[in-house]
Amino acid sequence: MTTKDIELLLNNASIACGYEGDLTVSFSNLPKICDFQCNGCFKIAKLHGQNPVQVANNIIDKIDKTNKDYEFSVLNGFINIKLTDQKLSQLANEYLQDDMAGIEKRERKQKIVLDYGGANVAKALHIGHLRPAIIGESLKRLYKLFGDEVIADVHLGDWGLQMGLCELQLFEDGKLDYYFQGKGEEPVITLDMLNEAYPKASARKNTDEDFKKKAEDWTVKIQSKKEPYYSIYKKIRAVSVEKIKQHYGELGATFDLWYGESDASEYIPHALKIIKEKGLARESEGAIVVDVAVEGENIPIQSDKDGTKRYKNPMPPCIIEKGNGAVLYATTDIATILMRNMTIKDIDRIEYVTDARQNMHFTQVFRVCKLAGISPKNQILLHIGNGTMNGKDGKPFKTRSGDTIKLEDIIDMLVNKASKKLSANGVEFDRDTALMIGVGAMKFGDLVNNVGKDYVFDIDKFLAFEGKTGPYLQYTVVRINSILNKLNGVKGGEINIDNDEMREIIKAIIKLNSSYSICYREKSLSSLCSASFDLASAFSTFYNNISVANEKDEIRKAGYISLLNLVKNKLMQALGVLAIEVPKKM
Ligand code: ARG
Repeated sequence: MTTKDIELLLNNASIACGYEGDLTVSFSNLPKICDFQCNGCFKIAKLHGQNPVQVANNIIDKIDKTNKDYEFSVLNGFINIKLTDQKLSQLANEYLQDDMAGIEKRERKQKIVLDYGGANVAKALHIGHLRPAIIGESLKRLYKLFGDEVIADVHLGDWGLQMGLCELQLFEDGKLDYYFQGKGEEPVITLDMLNEAYPKASARKNTDEDFKKKAEDWTVKIQSKKEPYYSIYKKIRAVSVEKIKQHYGELGATFDLWYGESDASEYIPHALKIIKEKGLARESEGAIVVDVAVEGENIPIQSDKDGTKRYKNPMPPCIIEKGNGAVLYATTDIATILMRNMTIKDIDRIEYVTDARQNMHFTQVFRVCKLAGISPKNQILLHIGNGTMNGKDGKPFKTRSGDTIKLEDIIDMLVNKASKKLSANGVEFDRDTALMIGVGAMKFGDLVNNVGKDYVFDIDKFLAFEGKTGPYLQYTVVRINSILNKLNGVKGGEINIDNDEMREIIKAIIKLNSSYSICYREKSLSSLCSASFDLASAFSTFYNNISVANEKDEIRKAGYISLLNLVKNKLMQALGVLAIEVPKKM
């Protein structure tokens, strides 16, 4: 069921009273009193010069008398609606049969390219790539639940200055003599070599102008596929990508396409040609730019701590070519959109999950693509900007020395902390279990927040086994599995709702089912997280008050077993979308 079913009943009654038929129904603000509410009688009362209480009573008098699903009552002009036990039982059995029952259907399935990787080759994956991976993976699963076709593209950062920096440093450290001086044997490029070279080079470029300039030239050589620069680059890329795949794997993020900026770069000349032919490009201070400002707009560039927005007005032009021949971030993204549209048919939406601070970049890129017709008119281009992960001090999460935290270190920390918890609880476990719990805790701690908001990364809080956390949900499923195992052999039967514990569970499932469409609309998983937690809490009350194993009435017991299966299915479905795995034991 959805609120639409109730709206239909109410609006038929409303029309029968001679009123308009545009009443809407929402979940109740007072769940102790009723399940749903309708606030529309005040408007009707005003229009018809009547008293709202009278209007509400008139409407409920005219409700179809064959209705056995809902009880209607009037309080101060509001219509309160309660689900009958008969309806709750019917829904429970329906939900058990069909996972998708109660989840709104989307009329048109869409083809979506989702870009939420962005890891950079030669650099270690860092905390900035964590939120996009977590959020993007869940959005992908959410869209798929609704039947959309989703193509996940990792879009590696594999064509920028980091390549030149890394390679030049290896060269200066004498590691590339074989290629440049024909000395010794061909070296095997390892991850350790990259991990040493890149940070060194990156720090150097900030103080050593000469080195930076050299690295830029080196990058242009790679980008123009000059040898041996390009072959060495390909080796660096291969080593790096292997590690990146492992990390994304540990986070449970999987991609259909493993393209990078380098693949898109092939489309740059074509993209530039289209833009220039359309007359969109102009010269400005030695660069080629496209004007993308819209008259009268105010572009928020930052929100101050006290909430006041600052604006940059208007949107600056998008730079698509610079004098030195280096490839630009914006141009690469424009070329990527061209590549996607040339290689994949009829894409309805292209969505990006990255840090919210990249919003201006994407606005510029999208506008250029629309102006140039690189993206068809009816195609939606969307940037889903995520807020920052902050430390307890409220500042972006950094290491003690102020460096960006590497993903590898975060994963280690999660595994360690989860291991400690499990040991303290006396549970036998392996690394995979600790990883599942640690990563699950982090994902839930992230997804429970609105995507655009900053939040505090507090792993101890996220890892609590009680409260609104990932481990609590995982634990609930583990607990249900253990009850079901103990009752092994007892068959489930029809669910008959006749006590408050059961009522609360089914109502929590109705809300959980409806949260999927809220998430789809908001492009944020927070309502699904909250609704999953509410279901786990309703189950916990049931578990504390009712012993299924000791139930003497066989029919009732069979109904309870089905209810346990239903709760488990619904939690597993939600955790599936949140990409949180459930361990066997915890
Ligand atoms: N590689 C970029 C970074 O690390 C992120 C890429 C995001 N995706 C995109 N299509 N621009 O900042």
